Amino acid sequence: MKTCESESSNPFAFATCQAGAEIALKAEVARLGSDIRAAFSRPGFVTFKLPADYPLSNPFHPNSVFAQTTGRSLGSVHCDATTSGANQVWNLVQNQRVHHLHTWQRNTRKSPVNPVTPLASAIGQQLLAHLPSDRAPLPLNQIAQRGQRILDCVLVEPGEWWIGSHVANNVPSRWPGGVIHRELPAHAVSRAYLKMWAALQWSGLSITAGDRCVELGSAPGGSSQALLDRGVQVTGIDPADMDETVLAHPDFTHLKMRGAELKRRAFRAFRWLVADANVAPKHTLDTVEQIVTYPGVPIRGLLLTLKLLQWNLAAQVPTWIERIRSWGYRHVRARQLASGGQEICIAAMRHRSLKRIGNARRS
Ligand SMILES: C[S@@+](CC[C@H](N)C(=O)[O-])C[C@H]1O[C@@H](n2cnc3c(N)ncnc32)[C@H](O)[C@@H]1O
Repeated sequence: MKTCESESSNPFAFATCQAGAEIALKAEVARLGSDIRAAFSRPGFVTFKLPADYPLSNPFHPNSVFAQTTGRSLGSVHCDATTSGANQVWNLVQNQRVHHLHTWQRNTRKSPVNPVTPLASAIGQQLLAHLPSDRAPLPLNQIAQRGQRILDCVLVEPGEWWIGSHVANNVPSRWPGGVIHRELPAHAVSRAYLKMWAALQWSGLSITAGDRCVELGSAPGGSSQALLDRGVQVTGIDPADMDETVLAHPDFTHLKMRGAELKRRAFRAFRWLVADANVAPKHTLDTVEQIVTYPGVPIRGLLLTLKLLQWNLAAQVPTWIERIRSWGYRHVRARQLASGGQEICIAAMRHRSLKRIGNARRS
């Protein structure tokens, strides 16, 4: 059996992202400050060297678009036996107080959306089995409360773990790996159900039962179902066919056409607009702008999926956000959700009061 070795790597930060998004993430971080340098990187995992005087209290890039989770790096552990690796982990943590342990696998192009794989859970159990006797028991891979410190163990390669910690502040940072996740419900007609569910959790938009919502690009209907399951009345606009079960829902209406074909005054009936059309971002933004700037259209919040048909479109995200602000949506945020593909989700609200206050839930 090989012995384990660990390397201290302060001051470093780590970030995980969708596999393929590393360059977009590095470019985003470079805009934060020229003193931060990208260091070790693998698909779905990037470390950054911070300036020596980087304040310890500063969370590293909490509102990143492309990072799923970020934190301070404590070092890496190389081992071929979980038991000896566990001792190295606790040596790196030293006397730092933590409230949770999150253990998960970095995203690879083949990995499932849920980063808490059976292997990650098993390693987490081993870490807890070797918890130093002077430490209180820790919950494993549970959703943390705001303000709690989380010990992160990222399985980067077999036998190579990166250890870090972060304080839960926004919703994703409370989940293992920053991935808001649940199992796909049996009745869901497409995986877009999970995407809409995660977007609602992340954005906190107060789309509630009885609200009227229009979706551009609704077929076959998974995301409409996630809204219908909340009691929302949904009108789906899409030239393609909806799934029969969605069509049969009493609160669903299908308009078989493109978004730009419906008379704009018809949008006066809706409070919320969501879009998931497989077109270029400019096309989605042009269509939505025509709708929400039309007199009397009261749409108070948006959830827009913008497809990054090429990764270099990532550089335009700040411009897209500014454009949406110019329509009167003062609170605009963007994030690449783990449940989506090569795309970002933008949440926009006219007023902050349109944000739901509540706890993250698994279902
Ligand atoms: C990714 S799929 C949408 C998935 C859907 N949200 C779900 O939950 O199953 C993209 C959809 O956009 C539709 N689409 C493309 N251009 C459109 C447009 N201009 N207006 C409305 N829908 C459009 C396509 O027909 C396709 O069904």
